[in-house]
Amino acid sequence: MSQIKNNQQKYGMGYSETFVNFLKKRRVETHAQFLLPYLKPGLKILDCGCGPGSMTIGFARCSQNSEVIGIDIEDSQLEIAREDAEKAGITNVTFQHANVLELPFADNTFDIVFSQGLISHFSNPLAVVFEQKRVVKLGGIVAAHNGYMSGAAFHPTNAILEEAYDLSKQPSIAHGGDPDIGIKLGKLFADAGFVDIKHTIFCDTNNIKEMAYFCAEEFLQREYNKKLLAQGKITLEKLQSYRDAWLDFAKIPHAFSYFPWGEVIGFKPI
Ligand SMILES: C[S@@+](CC[C@H](N)C(=O)[O-])C[C@H]1O[C@@H](n2cnc3c(N)ncnc32)[C@H](O)[C@@H]1O
Repeated sequence: MSQIKNNQQKYGMGYSETFVNFLKKRRVETHAQFLLPYLKPGLKILDCGCGPGSMTIGFARCSQNSEVIGIDIEDSQLEIAREDAEKAGITNVTFQHANVLELPFADNTFDIVFSQGLISHFSNPLAVVFEQKRVVKLGGIVAAHNGYMSGAAFHPTNAILEEAYDLSKQPSIAHGGDPDIGIKLGKLFADAGFVDIKHTIFCDTNNIKEMAYFCAEEFLQREYNKKLLAQGKITLEKLQSYRDAWLDFAKIPHAFSYFPWGEVIGFKPI
């Protein structure tokens, strides 16, 4: 099995204020519910690609006397995370700059290694999972939560809204990533040699309006879309029409959508 790393992997989502604020609303209870039964006191937990750290701080809260570390390649995110932890008075969490493909930790260090919304951005997701497996203890858990973007649906829908949604998949595709990795996580973990793998899909039907407003606002702020605009690959009118399609969707009474999240846990063989 190939364990080749591409530690130069580029991340395409960017760090617009809208996106970071959206991420800050994520909670362990909503985005790592499947992991809650395993959060006992006194664990050593690593959150890879922690971004602004709301989940990392959540793990520190949920798992008393645990030592929780969040790592990310982007210092601006680590600063936000440190500030938020301090404001919340959470002291069992630290944040450090690190690449998930070259984790600065010894083999067999953590009880749980988690990532949310990270693996979809890699052209070699197996390399990420292998590195996570290296640092988790024998019998420990590696867990991931990732979207299955093609499995989402909207009603009522229309061609512009569908085009707008398709464009949202492009930042990860453009860098060789896979916005549909959520449905492939079980197979990925099996290929990485985990045992007792539990792979499920959770369909998020909450906050449809909030999600639509976020998509609308983010459209003109997203670094990937700004790049397309600068390169003349898309017009401002087109981007505005996508934003408006989201705004219209948000205003329709009883409009419905669901977004499937793949959730996986795997145990490192003893
Ligand atoms: C979509 S955000 C998710 C953030 C957070 N997990 C959450 O759900 O709120 C992905 C994060 O992964 C980080 N990232 C991307 N490539 C990385 C790498 N090679 N090593 C560590 N972090 C990485 C990005 O900087 C970004 O903060």
